[in-house]
Amino acid sequence: MTATDPVSWSGEPAEFDDYAAEYKGGLDNPVKRLLGNSPDQFIAVKARWLMRHEPMLETGGLAVLDYGCGVGSLMRVLAETGARAEFTGCDISTGMLREVEKRWPAELGKAPALAPQQGAQTPFADGRFDVVTVSAVLHHVPVAERSAVYAELGRVLKPGGRLYVFEHNRRNPLVRHVIARTPIDRNAILLDAAEVRHALLDTARYDLDTDYLMFMPPRLAFLRPVDRMLAWMPLGAQYVVAARKPV
Ligand SMILES: C[S@@+](CC[C@H](N)C(=O)[O-])C[C@H]1O[C@@H](n2cnc3c(N)ncnc32)[C@H](O)[C@@H]1O
Repeated sequence: MTATDPVSWSGEPAEFDDYAAEYKGGLDNPVKRLLGNSPDQFIAVKARWLMRHEPMLETGGLAVLDYGCGVGSLMRVLAETGARAEFTGCDISTGMLREVEKRWPAELGKAPALAPQQGAQTPFADGRFDVVTVSAVLHHVPVAERSAVYAELGRVLKPGGRLYVFEHNRRNPLVRHVIARTPIDRNAILLDAAEVRHALLDTARYDLDTDYLMFMPPRLAFLRPVDRMLAWMPLGAQYVVAARKPV
């Protein structure tokens, strides 16, 4: 492991330690399997969105943190899509962090730097990252602990840096159906894009934007243009709140 060795972290076991070795992004749910045939197809929707909104991912030079990175899927799929960045991942589950290097293909070069979280906290310096991504994490964070997460995200982001919060959209009935029947989501508490926006504004005067994603099943690639046309409509299966930190 690179930045800090997660193996040396001796905190409490985390919920996702139990899922780490077999983790496949909730694809054990049969409805989710109808919508996409691999966990990467779901992650790729977010990766393509990020590539469109952060052009420097293609040219290189950004320090990118994936907060709650799990087994590192978003960083890996971004790299496989052509992103070049200095990737760092952190997570509260050392079991998930241990999977990152195991699942990182050699042909992608150096695996991301990794660090364990202590609750919401990370070991990074203030303003360390140009871009911070948070994908499918907040609905696993107990409501009372979420404000500490928002504060930490803002702390590690550079002035002018961008934060991207991807979440399941609880306004979408199919999402609620799937989440209620997926083992890794048994403790999940879904949240609206408005909750994310308000919570972020409680910590800093971010410029905010919201897009809705995944109206169409990720397995049907030919319908991607429809997704992009509907990005304004608050019914997609996912949303992303994009926040630019004030300079
Ligand atoms: C559903 S997984 C998503 C993993 C990854 N971001 C992805 O998109 O594939 C949720 C992750 O959030 C992590 N996490 C980070 N901070 C957390 C916190 N404070 N409470 C609960 N889970 C947290 C979990 O350990 C787990 O790896």
